[in-house]
Amino acid sequence: MIILKSAEEIQAMLRAGQVVAQAHELVRELIKPGVTTLDLDRAVEEFILKQNAIPAFKGYQGYPASICASVNEVVVHGIPSKDVVLQEGSIISVDIGAFVDGFCGDSAWTYPVGEVDPEVQLLLQTTEEALFQGIEQARVGNRLSDISHAVQKCAEERGFSVVRDFVGHGIGRNMHEAPQIPNFGPPGRGPRLKSGMTLAIEPMVNVGSYHVQVLEDNWTVVTRDSKWSAHFEHTVAITDEGPVVLTIL
Ligand code: MF3
Ligand code: CO
Repeated sequence: MIILKSAEEIQAMLRAGQVVAQAHELVRELIKPGVTTLDLDRAVEEFILKQNAIPAFKGYQGYPASICASVNEVVVHGIPSKDVVLQEGSIISVDIGAFVDGFCGDSAWTYPVGEVDPEVQLLLQTTEEALFQGIEQARVGNRLSDISHAVQKCAEERGFSVVRDFVGHGIGRNMHEAPQIPNFGPPGRGPRLKSGMTLAIEPMVNVGSYHVQVLEDNWTVVTRDSKWSAHFEHTVAITDEGPVVLTIL
């Protein structure tokens, strides 16, 4: 069942989304060669708590940190570590979630560390653009898979692939609610979109093939071919006036 939110509930989700967006501003400033992914986790956790918000990931199904920090061929769910030191030319996907007043905001960005290769820059641009093409379809009267299709089309037009094994999701009082939102598929399928739906749309786009595997730690998701991957995510409310991105300042 897809839970519709009232205007007041969407306001609370906006407050959560703004904390997440501010945490991303902080992370963006901190990312440079020599910084560890654990440094980023500590800074974000401290910031979220200072806003009287609650880190959404920490303790979720046993997840040990407040962010996911996924470098290069890591697709999602990289666990922050003092041993992962950022290097010039790498990319890092940072995923952040926070609860405010009982509602969750969830957003991921992939950042370059210093200067990256042109193909890598294109991967980042394309994944962000695919996210916004998906968001553009989050309109009353469309169907859910119109979002999926728009994301896939954008990524594949540039020669990249979209991950199949992980999907976006409804979001609200829980981080994960119905529906699941694949990043691929034909348009015109699935439930009709309604005012009051709140969705986390999150394309994961690979340079190589879409196949991924989970490492021994049961969290870290990597590409099978070890080529690099990017991840962008926003929490979006569907309103009669169109999609409203809650995780942008
Ligand atoms: N944005 C991710 C998601 O929607 C973050 C979850 S990481 C976890 O699934 F550790 F909390 F699971
Ligand atoms: Co998410």
